[in-house]
Formats: sequence, structure tokens, C-alpha cells
Amino acid sequence: MNPTLCPRRPFLPTVALMTALTVHQTARPTGFPAPGHFRFTESPVPSPAPGTALVENLYWSVDPYHREMMDGDFELNAPLEGRALGRIVASREPSLPEGEIVFHRKGWRTHSVVTPAEVRRLPLYEGVPLSAYLSVLGGTGLTAYVGLTRIARLREGDDVFVSAAAGGVGTATGRFARLLGAGRLIGSAGSTQKVNYLTEQVGYDAVFDYHTAPVAELLTKAAPDGMDLFVDNVGGEHLGAAIGALREHGRVVRIGTVGQYNTPEAPPVVFNHADVVEKSLRVEGFLVRNHLDAQQELYDFAVPHLLSGALALDETVVDGFERIVEAFLLMLRGGNTGKILVRATS
Ligand SMILES: NC(=O)c1ccc[n+]([C@@H]2O[C@H](COP(=O)([O-])OP(=O)(O)OC[C@H]3O[C@@H](n4cnc5c(N)ncnc54)[C@H](OP(=O)(O)O)[C@@H]3O)[C@@H](O)[C@H]2O)c1
Repeated sequence: MNPTLCPRRPFLPTVALMTALTVHQTARPTGFPAPGHFRFTESPVPSPAPGTALVENLYWSVDPYHREMMDGDFELNAPLEGRALGRIVASREPSLPEGEIVFHRKGWRTHSVVTPAEVRRLPLYEGVPLSAYLSVLGGTGLTAYVGLTRIARLREGDDVFVSAAAGGVGTATGRFARLLGAGRLIGSAGSTQKVNYLTEQVGYDAVFDYHTAPVAELLTKAAPDGMDLFVDNVGGEHLGAAIGALREHGRVVRIGTVGQYNTPEAPPVVFNHADVVEKSLRVEGFLVRNHLDAQQELYDFAVPHLLSGALALDETVVDGFERIVEAFLLMLRGGNTGKILVRATS
């Protein structure tokens, strides 16, 4: 199927809200953050200066890396950084016409003033929901795609184990791996509902709730013959167990370490170091920001599958910008299935 692009301006500009809301971090957390580490500030809607445009945001992404940034990279009492999609509602820059939908990183606020260098125009394929550009077609999907193709170099028939399998990257990894011809798909997740979702909706063959027993034990039961590839979103006990269970020439793709973002005192991973040598394992991590050149390749791969129905969206959508902090904290405690997004309601 050949995807068709929508006309460039599918949404008409609306009258901007009179007040803008912005989220600031106010204190550094130890362990899990709480609502008190954030503050919503009100200000008049900004006016674009020459060479800039005003974006009214429609969708925001909240991500595990924001938790890492709370430890030092986010400046206190200043607007936070985050991925967002919005509509240009006023412009003093000819290359940013009013009505255009853009992606940018000045999220955590209802309105953002952007320069052309700060935005990416979206291709807007007909029939593809806008939210997909922040989930399976956004950084989340790109991470899953790069992990499987460039880092793991997935081969047809490879058996794959994915940790945090019910999250944004985890569901995209499962669905892409299936479409790319993987063999058995094994996953771990944090609840029975997620286990059922993964086997019934996403196409995983065997999934366990990692709270119910030591991971190594659960993994041996779910994958008695081992596996070829481990896509790791969690680290810690999952990583140690997987190194033990991988077959010869197995690969570990290190994507993230969400198991320790809120527990910095977590003990180091224990695994048999000789396994890496004797099984000729390859362990490789990556940052998706170094693979942005794969974005068009992801569209070419995923959009036809989205349009044919072979690829479904896994999203938890929280309505209302005023719930963005709640959505972020919910995700850190496993309250999401698929990519968590916040959607504007006004
Ligand atoms: N390398 C890169 O460039 C890159 C890019 C994007 C994301 N990432 C990483 O990829 C991982 C997944 O990100 P995402 O955006 O898709 O988030 P996500 O998986 O949608 O959300 C985080 C999930 O982590 C799980 N979790 C929380 N604490 C855990 C723990 N102690 N042990 C095991 N699981 C835990 C929760 O699910 P459960 O209910 O299953 O516990 C929660 O839903 C993160 O580590 C993130 O940092 C890396």
C-alpha cells in the first residue's frame, strides 16, 4: 500500500486561550517524585517575535528519561523540555504558516514559541491518527525499530525476550519484531492485566509478571530453550537473568534502565561474566537521538502496516494538560499500557 499525504494544513487555527500554563520542577526528588516537586505557572499567552511562531500544543509525551533529567538536567523553576505536537496559531516566520501541525521539544506547556530550527514538520499520512507521531511513529517507535534493526540486526526466526514489554517501547518492539519475522516472543510486565494484554492483543507468546518470583526462574519457565535476543528496557535482575538464558551468539540490546531511575541505591546486576565469553554474546546500548536518520525508514516500514491494520496503536491517553504531572507519575509506577500521552482538551 502506498501511503497518501494529507494536505499540509488539515486543521484551522482556533482562537488561542488567553492564559498559558507551564510546568516547572521546583525541587530535586530522592526516589519516586511526587506532585510537590512540580508547579503549574500561569502567564499570558506569549506573542511570537519576528522569526518565530506560536504553537498551541495538542499532545505531550511524558517519558522515563524525564525522571533522569529531574536529578540535574532540568533547571529548577524554569520550563521543562519534552516532546510535543501542536498547531501553529500565530506566526511571524513565513516558513511556519498558521494551521501547520509541528513536532517540537518545548513541551510541558500549553503554548510554545518556536523557531524553524526547533520544529519538525510531520508528513501527516492520511488515515494515521495524530497521536501516532508521538507513539509508534515517534521517538518511542523509533527506539524500538532501531533496537531491532540496527542494533540487534534481527534475523528471521530469532526468539526475542523484551523487558517492560507492556510499555511504549516494549509494545512497539513486540509488534515490530512480529512483522519483521521474529520467532517466539517472550515478555515481562508488572501486572496480570498487562500479561493478558500482551498475549491477547500484541502477539507475545509467553509473558510473566516479574513481581511473582525471581526473574531467572520465571524466564526459564517462559523460555525453557533460551532465546537469541534480549531487548532490555529495565536492567537489574532482568539483565542478569537474560544473560544466563541467552543462546550462543545471543545479543542484548540495552535500551533503558527504568528499574533503577527511582531507586538509585539498587544493587548492581549480578550475572556470570564467563557467559558473555563462552556464549559469544554481544551487549550493545544506544541512544535514539543518534539515529534520527532512521525516521523516514520507520515511516516507510510502519505506515503501510498501520494503514492495512497489521500494526495497531498501543496508547494510554490522559486527557487535559492539567493532568500532565499525574500522567508522568502514573507512568513511573507502571500505570500505562503502551505509550503514555497527554491530550489537550480545550
Ligand atoms: N535508548 C534510548 O534512546 C531510549 C529512548 C526511549 C526510551 N528509552 C528507555 O526505554 C525504556 C522504556 O521507555 P518507555 O518510554 O517505553 O516507557 P514505558 O515502558 O511506557 O513506561 C515505563 C514502564 O516501566 C515499567 N517499570 C517501572 N519501574 C519498573 C521496575 N522497577 N522494574 C521493571 N519495570 C518497571 C512500568 O511497567 P510495569 O508495569 O511493567 O512495571 C512502566 O509502565 C525506559 O528505560 C526508557 O528510559 C530509551
